Amino acid sequence: MPDYLHFAETIAREAGAILREGYGRAEKIQYKGAVDLVTEYDHRVESFLLSRVQERYPAHSIYAEESGRSAQSNEYEWLIDPLDGTVNFAHAVPCFAVSLALTHKGQLQLGVVFDPMRDEMFLGEAGQGATLNGQRLSVSSEQDLGKSLLTTGFPYDVRTSPLNNFAEFIAFYKRAQAVRRPGSAALDCCYVAAGRFDGYWEYKMKPYDIGAGALMVQEAGGRVSTATGEANFLGHISILASNGHIHEQMLEVLREAQNGR
Ligand code: IPD
Ligand code: CA
Ligand code: CA
Repeated sequence: MPDYLHFAETIAREAGAILREGYGRAEKIQYKGAVDLVTEYDHRVESFLLSRVQERYPAHSIYAEESGRSAQSNEYEWLIDPLDGTVNFAHAVPCFAVSLALTHKGQLQLGVVFDPMRDEMFLGEAGQGATLNGQRLSVSSEQDLGKSLLTTGFPYDVRTSPLNNFAEFIAFYKRAQAVRRPGSAALDCCYVAAGRFDGYWEYKMKPYDIGAGALMVQEAGGRVSTATGEANFLGHISILASNGHIHEQMLEVLREAQNGR
């Protein structure tokens, strides 16, 4: 079996170097929606990653944020988010990452999330565990939602869509120790894997946003599901990732918030 993980780590590191160099220099900002923007670095890094993957594995299919799904279909598919945390990057807030995952017949095989500003490389491989800069990762042992630090995000269509996560955010803020909104779903998941956060939920995530991070959580001993507890979170409208211990408590809060909406 080819060393996909090593290859993905290498190109993620190179992609991160492009972002680090561009940090604070984003000029060409275009709006995809009212609050959804894209910089020249999203495009530059995506082209770089696409060309490296296509050159090395020409038969594989690719699903990348800015260019969509490749025409050819293959059992192997690369999920590519060249810059997760674009709004932060555009404002020179140092919280963003490169996120790459590989699926085989729809199952996550590996995930790589690289934070170039902190030089943190998160690697996960199905059945092999997850690491941060070579150190084994494991989720927190917190059992009590009331003592848990959670993280989330809000969809780009908050101004118009009723599925805006506001009711859920309020409900969790009243029940947890606190809730953060750092602005990078990939890092949110990796921080759950690292035991920094105890749980994460969000709506309207695409496979390239959370594929790598979700595998990291699973490989660090956590649990990942949809916001209603089903296993098929990849490509689903919702995701819930936690240390496992507080998963049921989080599902309960989500149920209450959804019923009250
Ligand atoms: C976004 C970030 C953010 C999340 C948004 C995502 P992008 O990805 O992960 O944390 O709340 O829903 O779309 O657009 O910066 O790649
Ligand atoms: Ca993203
Ligand atoms: Ca992105």
